Amino acid sequence: MPKHMTETRQIYLDNAATTRVDARVASVVSECMLESYGNPSSAHCAGIEAERRVRTATSQLAKAIGDPDGSFGRILWTSGGTESDAMGVLGAGRTKKKARKVVVSAIEHPAVKQSAAMLSEMGWEFVELAVGARGVATVEAVHEAVDADTGVMAIMLVNNEIATIAPIAELATAARELSPEIHVHCDAVQALGKIEVNVAELGADSVAFAAHKLHGPKGVGALWLKNGARIRPFWAGGGQQGGLRSGTDNVPGIAGMGAAAELACEDLSARQAAHQAFAATIITACKEAGLRFQVNAETATRAPHVLSLAFDACPAEPLLHVLESRGVLVSAGSACAEKSRKPSPVLTAIGVPKTHGTLRISFGRDTTAEDITTASEILIDAVRSFQS
Ligand SMILES: Cc1ncc(COP(=O)(O)O)c(C=O)c1O
Repeated sequence: MPKHMTETRQIYLDNAATTRVDARVASVVSECMLESYGNPSSAHCAGIEAERRVRTATSQLAKAIGDPDGSFGRILWTSGGTESDAMGVLGAGRTKKKARKVVVSAIEHPAVKQSAAMLSEMGWEFVELAVGARGVATVEAVHEAVDADTGVMAIMLVNNEIATIAPIAELATAARELSPEIHVHCDAVQALGKIEVNVAELGADSVAFAAHKLHGPKGVGALWLKNGARIRPFWAGGGQQGGLRSGTDNVPGIAGMGAAAELACEDLSARQAAHQAFAATIITACKEAGLRFQVNAETATRAPHVLSLAFDACPAEPLLHVLESRGVLVSAGSACAEKSRKPSPVLTAIGVPKTHGTLRISFGRDTTAEDITTASEILIDAVRSFQS
């Protein structure tokens, strides 16, 4: 354990940023590095063994995302959520001959927004879809933004700051009525292992995932690509993965992601219930302590692993550091620029007041009820020191 973790007991509540690798996943990765070290493209037995590891992981992930026998689409292994989003937005946009408009929701991750911005550098019109105070894109907003010229639309399934869940299938249907050839991309990086994900019912042409959000290793992710959907590869090379993503497969990472996805589904409902209870405990404790705060996107349907709280008269960054000094690690954000941070476009889009500092508290498989009780006491003390 790193030295800084032994000095104060650390309560890690930043699982939306990344998660600790599950010990069972770590042993799959390590075993794969030591034993299945062949190149899956090699014709000999070591290559065949490595290829078997990739195939196993592909079926584990396919099952976890609701396409167990791959009849709806294929899985491409990538270096993580960012690459998967780039493929689904920019890679898909680059296949379009006529369409010249890209529409993304106002609360997308920079991996999506910046990929759309790259299309706009190529002459595309870039339109942001409003999400309103509830933090969810609506069919009306799609009707306003999408037209026959729209080649790509990207809407995330679960937002990484406020955890709102978007009705992707409904939005995709509305978009296709206006632009039948549109490619709909969905960033499901914060959804897998947190809510049920079923790519067969989602209505998207491509869906992005990342292993490190579900107690898997960093630097590995996947793009699910629907049958018939097209993307243009970013680079050429040995032609691996059907030529869509050349380069030797990251076999240990892929095996780790497969194992992580399988485990994430096994204990999903128990974890959802635990995380809902954790959020309720924190909210109740803050209310009983008389703190002035709001739950961001309170009325929207949200994934249970993230609780976003905006505290009146509390600067987010200093609050984060007070908590850190007492061993509680969370993320901070606000709708106004602080010294070291830009305003959060997500909090700005949903209208969080500029006077409020937001904490994103996010739970993982390791979070315990005891952690939450202790963290709530520390949080109340810290916020009181600003609000009194
Ligand atoms: C919603 C969302 N999309 C994409 C990413 C990028 O994923 P990665 O860090 O694996 O590149 C993240 C990670 O923060 C995310 O939360």
